[in-house]
Amino acid sequence: MSGTRQSSRLRPQKVNLSQKFGLFRDFWSPKIVGELNDSYVKLVKLKGEFVWHKHAKEDELFLVTKGQLTIKLRGKHVDLTKGEFFVVPKGIEHKPVAVREAQVVLIERKTTRNTGQIKNERTVSSPERI
Ligand code: NI
Repeated sequence: MSGTRQSSRLRPQKVNLSQKFGLFRDFWSPKIVGELNDSYVKLVKLKGEFVWHKHAKEDELFLVTKGQLTIKLRGKHVDLTKGEFFVVPKGIEHKPVAVREAQVVLIERKTTRNTGQIKNERTVSSPERI
């Protein structure tokens, strides 16, 4: 794994989102497609409702590239469509909901766990690199 990481840094390559999204079908399972500084760029397909969670020390960016995504926050919600992004501030409880399939780019610290402070069957501890 570290070898892969090193070579991608030594030989930077462009990333095509359509090509990468075509490599997987599972929902709620973020894939790492890039990294910068202490953050990862991840792709995820969302459909249905996720769990309420928060990240105590990490902001989390959601950029919608296909479909629509609602990010529920306590007391409000944010509706995103293709081409829009929202940053969930650290410490804020949130719950992503996609009625139909949505494709989303995430930018977040490498330490960020998808289910935040919760660990359950939806937790992806070591996201796959694609
Ligand atoms: Ni989150």
